[in-house]
Amino acid sequence: MTGFNTNLVHGESIHDNQTGAVNTPIYNSSTYAYPSATSKVRWDYERSGNPTREFLEKQVTRLEEGKNGFAFASGMAAIHAVFAIFKPGDHILIGNQIYGGTYRILNQYFKERGTSFSVVDTTKLETIESAIQTNTKAIYFEPVTNPLLHVSSVTAVAKIAKKHQLLTIVDNTFLTPYLQKPLKLGADIVVHSATKYLGGHSDVIAGLVITNSEKLGKQIYFIQNALGGVLSPESANLIRRGIQTLSVRMDRQQQNAFDIIRFLKKRSEVTQIYYPGIEGTKDYLIASRELKGFGGVLSFELGEKVDAVAFVNHLQLIRLAVSLGAVESLAELPYEMSHAELPPAERMKAGISPKLIRLAVGIEDSQDLVADLEQALEFSVNSVTLNQANVQ
Ligand SMILES: Cc1ncc(COP(=O)(O)O)c(C=O)c1O
Repeated sequence: MTGFNTNLVHGESIHDNQTGAVNTPIYNSSTYAYPSATSKVRWDYERSGNPTREFLEKQVTRLEEGKNGFAFASGMAAIHAVFAIFKPGDHILIGNQIYGGTYRILNQYFKERGTSFSVVDTTKLETIESAIQTNTKAIYFEPVTNPLLHVSSVTAVAKIAKKHQLLTIVDNTFLTPYLQKPLKLGADIVVHSATKYLGGHSDVIAGLVITNSEKLGKQIYFIQNALGGVLSPESANLIRRGIQTLSVRMDRQQQNAFDIIRFLKKRSEVTQIYYPGIEGTKDYLIASRELKGFGGVLSFELGEKVDAVAFVNHLQLIRLAVSLGAVESLAELPYEMSHAELPPAERMKAGISPKLIRLAVGIEDSQDLVADLEQALEFSVNSVTLNQANVQ
């Protein structure tokens, strides 16, 4: 089998466009002509299948080393398709720091339709077994959590799940198959917000599901075709193209993350840094065992003397925006932005303080990123001093 980087670039070519084009064409056709009314055709209607989408689906199946892949119009559409395979009366365990949108669809949509959920901390393996009920069917979690980057072992969680005949479902958005292949570690289903690292350029919304068995694949395909939340051929092409540079982007993002951490460690205004690549933590121990790298997202806590709002507002090069995984660096204040829906007490309980900054590191020159952070820090320290002077 060819290497991972070769697979990123080439995928499984479909040589049917009669031009020699090195890339899969964008097949913009909602319907396909039958040679005759009784013909058995490979393609008939875009919701059921599209060659550009299929190229991407095969490409990610190969990268995740799964059996079947499915591309959806967003990460949430993919996650919806996965939970739609369960029935009323089923119970599912979910990680305690999953993406807010996933929590919302479970709590405000699937719960009303009869599926029940219990929240478990997958970094504390002993809590998983005690939450399993007779009707528990699956465990769903993110191996690296957002925004505090806590790491769970997919191997250990999947082992417990197998013992109790539960499916293990992993949201691999933060890591991608470049850094971790959950299906190889015992998971049954992987989901992605391909909007992030796989797309890599903040220009497309997409989701993916990859299964480890034909049986699960059939169930997901039924939902994909029946509900129809499919990825368009144009968007499938953008994700295909993004994937070709996944490893070079992620290597650079990780290198930049380490350069930024070296700078932050020297700053007295920064009281805590969260990143799985920082040695000496439990997260580092699991990450260095299971991951090929530590990723491009880090978070840090600012001290009392720093105005966190002024800090993010004053960044010039690093854009103030939610989302992550793209070539450009993005910063956000989870307390006010990505996690603002949670009541303040819940935010604090989850470790999301008003001084926590999340940085999704891009591929720029790290000295420019550090210079931007430095000038914003200087400004925000001074702005607190000025505000205090005004109060007195
Ligand atoms: C970990 C994770 N999973 C799923 C999603 C949802 O994906 P999308 O925004 O593509 O629907 C997100 C979006 O931020 C995410 O961060």
